[in-house]
Amino acid sequence: MNIPITLLIMMSMFLLPFITHGQEHTLNIIYTGAIKGELEPCGCSPKTDYGGMARLSGFLSAHEEGLSPYILVDAGNFLPKDSPQGRLKVDAFLKSFAVMKYDTVAFMSSEQAYPDDFLSPLIKQYGIPALSYSSTGAVSLSRGTVNVIIAVDPSDCLEGTLDILLTDHPAAQTENMSGCDVIITSSGETLEEPFNREKSIIVAGAERGKKVGILTLQVDDAGRVKGYQNSFRDLGNDIEGDGKVRAVLDDYDAKVARLISESVRPPASDTYLGAAKCAECHQPFEESWKKTRHARAFESLEHVGKENDPECIVCHVVGYGEEGGFYSMSTTPALANVQCEECHGLDRGHMEDFSKPMRPVTKKVCLKCHTKENSPDFDYTIHLKKIMH
Ligand code: HEC
Ligand code: HEC
Ligand code: HEC
Ligand code: HEC
Repeated sequence: MNIPITLLIMMSMFLLPFITHGQEHTLNIIYTGAIKGELEPCGCSPKTDYGGMARLSGFLSAHEEGLSPYILVDAGNFLPKDSPQGRLKVDAFLKSFAVMKYDTVAFMSSEQAYPDDFLSPLIKQYGIPALSYSSTGAVSLSRGTVNVIIAVDPSDCLEGTLDILLTDHPAAQTENMSGCDVIITSSGETLEEPFNREKSIIVAGAERGKKVGILTLQVDDAGRVKGYQNSFRDLGNDIEGDGKVRAVLDDYDAKVARLISESVRPPASDTYLGAAKCAECHQPFEESWKKTRHARAFESLEHVGKENDPECIVCHVVGYGEEGGFYSMSTTPALANVQCEECHGLDRGHMEDFSKPMRPVTKKVCLKCHTKENSPDFDYTIHLKKIMH
């Protein structure tokens, strides 16, 4: 259930004076986990256009007063696989966390897949309060009279403090952590309502950071939890992105573009002929194709400033990353957009003998790009009708 955040904030503002009177305090734990490399959503479909660091930061600054006092934590698994582009993301994530002043960021398996001599200097440079299994220790802080410990090791959970444990174990496998008041997992599972075991309240970060979790606690001076309510706020395009984090993401985009221009271009060849060549004999087909959105797919990337991002280009052009395929707009403009050969294949036999059929175009061809994440409404029969030529 999604409780509107404004309602929650109003509720907590009205309740606050009464609650503190009885030695109880309201404290929000704002949490993310399992962001999985999603610095920002691709925007391929309005249905999946949620999440991103700029919106998260925009949301936090717009509601700072109503949410305070709060603790901001990430339970880990925010990084993608190690790669040159992945490393640029590490930098952008850590900078964004620093802008938002995360109180603790856990480094779980995705993070630990990066070498320490790469991660450690960045963690230091941006002053990230990092926690991981490999480095012992916990973060202690206080909010008013409530003392809080944030840990990754259950043995750090103490009496007399509010203990928050960050983990990537699934909620069902947290038996050995029941000494902790709050358990936040980056397992990637969906927990609309918190899961309880003994005294622990267990919540899970929304996968890919599409929503931010807000666990509102009533806590007494000894850190005992007297009551709680959990909600998620969708990070949709109704939230204005924060300018400082936007600048971090723009800087990331510029570095990604440089990464491409410095990368080794696959050998140029005539593997891909491009639509213009097919049109020499199939002009009516080219004309009807030009009316489809496939013929403007690259423009869509230019509109959002992502025309130099390999993670986007791959589905918006022909043959990206392959010999003779699209490389960049300045070198291979004729291969921008989703062209004939993405669907019909590369059968050179056809050029020598037109009676030879090209490979049949099947649903599987479409699903390479029309994935659940990028095209959640894809329906083969309906979509096929729209591109028939
Ligand atoms: C030099 C002319 C020529 C070029 C260039 C050419 N074709 Fe064809 N193509 C033909 C002819 C002729 C036929 C067979 C007659 C027909 O069905 O129109 C054909 C048939 C086809 C068919 C339907 C037959 C089948 O069973 O698959 C497809 C699909 C096709 N071509 C795709 C392409 C694509 C894609 C390109 C560009 C990579 C291309 N053609 C380039 C001449 C050409
Ligand atoms: C190489 C990747 C790729 C393949 C393969 C592909 N598409 Fe697409 N498709 C796209 C992209 C990218 C867009 C969005 C273009 C834009 O607007 O920027 C799109 C848009 C569309 C749209 C317009 C969306 C709408 O709701 O009107 C339809 C319809 C469509 N594709 C149908 C198909 C069908 C059917 C197939 C298989 C026969 C297919 N596509 C194969 C990448 C692909
Ligand atoms: C796995 C393939 C794939 C990848 C990767 C991909 N796209 Fe798309 N994109 C699509 C498809 C398919 C559509 C059409 C979706 C539909 O209408 O169903 C699309 C549509 C779009 C649109 C048009 C939205 C609209 O309604 O006008 C934009 C903008 C876009 N993508 C941007 C991006 C960006 C930015 C990235 C990289 C962060 C990206 N895409 C990565 C497949 C992809
Ligand atoms: C999004 C995928 C897609 C793209 C892009 C695409 N086609 Fe097709 N094309 C199809 C489908 C689907 C069919 C009909 C079913 C089949 O051929 O298997 C078809 C059919 C054809 C046919 C054969 C029609 C017949 O008589 O059997 C030709 C020729 C053809 N396309 C040429 C082209 C050319 C030329 C382009 C580029 C300008 C192009 N197509 C782009 C999917 C695509």
